[in-house]
Amino acid sequence: MKKLFAVIGDPIAHSMSPAMHNDLFQVYGIDAHYQPLHVRRENLKEAVIGLKAIGTAGFNITIPHKETIIPLLDKLDPLAEAIGAVNTVVNEDGKFVGYNTDGSGYLQGLLTLLPTIKEKNILIIGAGGAARALYFTLAQAGVNRLDICNRTAQKAEQLINECPFHVPSAAIGKEEAEKKLADYQLLIQTTPIGMSPNIESLPLSLHNLETDALVSDIIYNPLETKILREAKNKGAKIQNGLDMFVYQGALAFEKWTGIFPNIERMKNIVLNQLG
Ligand code: ATR
Repeated sequence: MKKLFAVIGDPIAHSMSPAMHNDLFQVYGIDAHYQPLHVRRENLKEAVIGLKAIGTAGFNITIPHKETIIPLLDKLDPLAEAIGAVNTVVNEDGKFVGYNTDGSGYLQGLLTLLPTIKEKNILIIGAGGAARALYFTLAQAGVNRLDICNRTAQKAEQLINECPFHVPSAAIGKEEAEKKLADYQLLIQTTPIGMSPNIESLPLSLHNLETDALVSDIIYNPLETKILREAKNKGAKIQNGLDMFVYQGALAFEKWTGIFPNIERMKNIVLNQLG
């Protein structure tokens, strides 16, 4: 019988995941379908019960359910538990097991551009859910320094304090970050600043950026945010959010099927959808 996969969220209509996974099922000859499902906050519990009742083989979770789904699952992967957010569920013998492939997807995409991150000083801009997944994953992987610059300093401090993996870290303000920007070899932009339709905004000045630094933005619409454009103009390397999106999907697909799919193919599907 055809296996059912899904993505649940609110809003969900513009998700790129169905096109990406349905293409992969076809390419790898897997008899399965991936369905976007609009689930409102107040219906999450019933939705998860329903997904289990009909034997859903796996699903992704997007905004606003990544945290609130946790108590509704049967089992949690330790990294997803530490992060406190789940983006991928696998039906393992009738039990819904939660994973987080956002951080590991980001890291895998990053490693295609940087051979090693162990001795890097990294600045994360933002302290929301995405920043948390990246911070925990990079802290677990081990880096030289991992600072956070966030509008609300207290949220950055809380994130650092809650991470079970120790790494030299500080929550720093925007002015301090701008002043010591040359200390960082990698900047990771995780806020919505620069996202369509507010494409002309910048989270901080890149005046002191080293030209051999890498600036990475998790936004992929637009593909080149203002911070990436400015970094490129200074001669720095840049990475947009397409890699993270595609790798988180690839890692989910691998958990469901045992197959690590073709990344370039996935990127092309998303690029076609973006138009
Ligand atoms: P996600 O879960 O997708 O990461 P989020 O939890 O809404 O999204 O987090 C967004 C992050 O971007 C937060 O750190 C937020 O800063 P605050 O902690 O101060 O709220 C940051 N952010 C959002 N809009 C911003 C803006 N206009 N200027 C500066 N920071 C902003």
